[in-house]
Amino acid sequence: MPGRNCVLLAADDASHAAIVREVLEQAHYRVLVAGDGLQALEIAHAERPDLLILGVTLPSLNGFELCSRLRSDPDMRTLPIIMLTSFNEPPYRIRAEQVGVSRFMAAPFDRHELLTTVRTLLDRRKWQAQLVPFQETVRCLLIALQHRAPEVFSHSQRVACLAGDVGRSLLLDEEQVQELVLGALLHDIGKLGLTGDGTDSWEPVYHAVIGARMLCRFRRPTLCAVVRSHHEHLNGTGGPDGLAGEDLALPVRIVAICNRFDRLTGGTPGRQRKAREGLEALKIEVDAGLWDPRVAEHLREVVLRSARLSEAVAAAGRR
Ligand SMILES: [Fe+2]
Repeated sequence: MPGRNCVLLAADDASHAAIVREVLEQAHYRVLVAGDGLQALEIAHAERPDLLILGVTLPSLNGFELCSRLRSDPDMRTLPIIMLTSFNEPPYRIRAEQVGVSRFMAAPFDRHELLTTVRTLLDRRKWQAQLVPFQETVRCLLIALQHRAPEVFSHSQRVACLAGDVGRSLLLDEEQVQELVLGALLHDIGKLGLTGDGTDSWEPVYHAVIGARMLCRFRRPTLCAVVRSHHEHLNGTGGPDGLAGEDLALPVRIVAICNRFDRLTGGTPGRQRKAREGLEALKIEVDAGLWDPRVAEHLREVVLRSARLSEAVAAAGRR
């Protein structure tokens, strides 16, 4: 079957390897088997598998040594590696982490857990591979913004920091937080497309339309939604589309309110005092229905925690 993912299985116990192989082949993976560490290393370089499952007690090169040798090769740094072993004590787990094992699994294994782990690691690798050229593009766009509009660039950085903290406070997982931070960093990127001479008739929201148009080709719906809708209001009075309520996803609500808070506080010196004034002004707008009250509460906690920390550091410096 063409296009199947290839799994290299390195195990010294033939009967154990046969069981794992059967589970993987039933799930339509192509499986290569190596009985010792050096053979596994040779196959890994020759065949470029998509994932490696290894044990600890391999002849000629044990599982830790094999993993370490593979990780020293730049081409193998992102290879997902599962260590499947009955050596389940903490020293083995710690060593596995040190040599770059992606996931440690105790034997005997559960069939569904193994297949889920394999699928998750393969999906993550595919996603990471797509990310590299995308990140380079993002870097180029941000360099352009930094030179064309340094104040917008600084504003975007502050909004990204705050949005990340609010996202974590709302218990988003780390992948969601990263996408949120990226959206916040790029939320005003459409300003690169404005003429800059005041003749952009649809501003203040036209840059959001341009930004979403620039980024839509990457097919990252959350990112595009954040960029296009960061000037929308919860009650439908914002723009460019007049979206309201449930039509505004959580990442959009977070970036929208962080953007507004940064505009209210201005990012100028003496921010601790301005932060509290900004929160007061924001509260009035939340009560008027512009922003999500739950997100506003988390933003308030994040801002006050940061202000208290800054005050404590300043006080310690004066002592
Ligand atoms: Fe904006």
